[in-house]
Amino acid sequence: MNPATTPSAVPDLPIATPELLAAMAPIYERMERVVPAVEWALHAPYVAEILRLKEERNAVILAHNYQNPVVFHGIADYKGDSLGLAQFGAKTEADVIVMCGVHFMAETAAILSPEKMVLIPDLEAGCSLAESITGADIRLLKERHPGVPVVTYVNTSADVKAESDICCTSANAVEVVESLGVDKVIFLPDEYLGQWVASQTDVQLILWKGHCEVHERFTGEEIRNYRKQDPGIYVLAHPECPQDVLAEADFVGSTSAMIQGVEASGASRVVMITECSMSDNVSVNFPEVDFVRPCNLCPHMQRITLPKVLRSLQRLEHQVVVDAETSERARRAVERMLEVGRGPRG
Ligand code: 13P
Ligand code: SF4
Repeated sequence: MNPATTPSAVPDLPIATPELLAAMAPIYERMERVVPAVEWALHAPYVAEILRLKEERNAVILAHNYQNPVVFHGIADYKGDSLGLAQFGAKTEADVIVMCGVHFMAETAAILSPEKMVLIPDLEAGCSLAESITGADIRLLKERHPGVPVVTYVNTSADVKAESDICCTSANAVEVVESLGVDKVIFLPDEYLGQWVASQTDVQLILWKGHCEVHERFTGEEIRNYRKQDPGIYVLAHPECPQDVLAEADFVGSTSAMIQGVEASGASRVVMITECSMSDNVSVNFPEVDFVRPCNLCPHMQRITLPKVLRSLQRLEHQVVVDAETSERARRAVERMLEVGRGPRG
């Protein structure tokens, strides 16, 4: 059993009755290829109670593509990449948004919807990229490069967004950089995403040395080994991977773009070079495709569990609030990104 999907002691619910399992069967069908029935009996009472309480609270649950399968297929109203979560969060009419993702995603939702209550089930769900840079770092960079616009990956804190001209995600980074109509930009904080963007545009990028602790572990050699074992394998990689990995890939794109990439490839065997829960989540919709699953889990994403989501809805915790001044400045950068939208391969 994956420890990340094992319900913890708090709050405790009884194991499912046969009646409850029968009522929940249509939900289980969505994930039965990746969640054993014996585990489902532990999860089902949480899913049932979360879905009930979600209605009572007029809440929506947003889940990133890296969430574990029981969260992803069991309780989410919207599932997607960072850009999709931001777009959905900006237009939902619900009173409460529960973010099954990491802290910067909840903060982005709070920035875009200050009138809504935004909850994250575990406050420790952070991100190594967001940790790599502060608002003070950006102010220094702007002093060093006066007049050069700052493009900031959404995997950053509200303070950093507030110092930025525009945000981007991996689904629109090239389009965002080019939308500014300048020769040079400061691009932060992911060095590898920046190197990939630089390979796709004539705009010069000043980079920062931030890395994702999950994607930086992949190597080009790993991909060559997959190809040695099966020369026909289709390799999709997230642009947070190092350059030697991306050079070996057939397809590079955001997590949602990778899902479209699997479909468009028509391949019978694929490997997604990214967080490994995603292969479980996506494979459910492609029963004819064989997914090779490298197992690099994001420890932050995997902090979100069903018991924590239930507790979050019960106690309305943990509320993510951004102070009004920071929020106002950060919102300009995020909304400017939303106007650019998704790139052609995003
Ligand atoms: P996406 O925007 O592609 O979903 O990526 C978010 C992320 O955190 C990747 O590690
Ligand atoms: Fe951050 Fe990497 Fe986890 Fe994505 S996978 S949330 S970039 S640490």
